[in-house]
Amino acid sequence: MSLRALLESLEIPIIQSPMLGASDAALAIAVSRAGGLGSLAAGGLAPADIGPAIAQVRAATDRPFTVNLLMAPKAAPDAATVEAALQRLAPWYAEVGAPPPAAPNQFAPDFDAQFEALAAAAPPVASFAFDVLTRDQVATLQRAGTYVLGTANTVAEARAWAEVGADGVCAQGAEAGGHHAYFLADIDDSLVGTFALVATIRAAVDLPVVAAGGIMDGRGVAAALALGAIGAQMGTAFLMSDEATISQAWRGAIETASDDPTRLTRALTGRYARGIENRFMREMRGVEREVPAYPVQNRLTQPLRAAAAKAGDPQMLSLWAGQGVRLAERGPAADLLRRWWDEARATARELAGRTGI
Ligand SMILES: Cc1cc2nc3c(=O)[nH]c(=O)nc-3n(C[C@H](O)[C@H](O)[C@H](O)COP(=O)(O)O)c2cc1C
Repeated sequence: MSLRALLESLEIPIIQSPMLGASDAALAIAVSRAGGLGSLAAGGLAPADIGPAIAQVRAATDRPFTVNLLMAPKAAPDAATVEAALQRLAPWYAEVGAPPPAAPNQFAPDFDAQFEALAAAAPPVASFAFDVLTRDQVATLQRAGTYVLGTANTVAEARAWAEVGADGVCAQGAEAGGHHAYFLADIDDSLVGTFALVATIRAAVDLPVVAAGGIMDGRGVAAALALGAIGAQMGTAFLMSDEATISQAWRGAIETASDDPTRLTRALTGRYARGIENRFMREMRGVEREVPAYPVQNRLTQPLRAAAAKAGDPQMLSLWAGQGVRLAERGPAADLLRRWWDEARATARELAGRTGI
């Protein structure tokens, strides 16, 4: 078997995006059961919780699924940096009526320990973002029977994944919701649209390419396949599904979003991510380049965002969503998935007619 063969064997060539903070095992299970490829977002899990979470998905379906980790750098900011960042956040904490966190001594789960737990559980596929694994790490997963899917925002990043022996590349276009995966260049040089990115990565590396970013329905799925992608990875399109775990305030912000509602921001987490613009993003825009890098700022705003979600206030939340968010529809994930695939097939038939086939 190969990752290509696994993805080609799916009934529906749609990969559900791993979505930390917006999905749990229930969405992954629903998608895999319905014939797509579900993804478990394990980036925020403590190493000890990764094995049990993977076992939960395995117990619910014998279909393939993916587990995703975020390659957060080890962070050891000095006390002054943390203090300055907390000072900047103090008015926001005061407004929501929550105490700012005491300077934490850990900012993200330890990646090496997460990786070990993942390799021990050996899921069918593992995907990664924010950096590139070493050759040894890739080989460890492959020996355990896990295919490796690396996320790239540029052709150079796709080449880097190919060089370490990855089995496939997820081409994440600039349209994508949530954090962007860039790791070789700064964000300004890492914003390629999904169309151009899929086509240029395909031409550059001899690996199966998954298209991600802005794919919201069956027409988008058909377009991704037409570009030569082996599958379409969709995140924002699942945000309003019954299984998504987003807060009411986040759902409400999607329902009332303006015509072109999203923007990239560094203010919330210290790494550029796309979300529906809110007051926090607007007012912090001028200093967003100054906040400490991910995962430090992410950790320092976590209690703020939790308190805002509890209070039902979307203005201080991370409202991650992609450029197509206005097209997000409600319903059980399995129904959405089947509908998109029916639409993709109808699109292919329509195009066959238009091209005289
Ligand atoms: C709410 C949300 C959370 C996300 N969390 C993750 C994550 O934990 N790991 C990851 O690799 N990508 C994450 N992403 C990015 C997706 O993998 C994918 O690139 C994106 O959903 C594709 O664009 P779309 O949202 O327009 O479909 C997230 C995206 C969203 C919308």
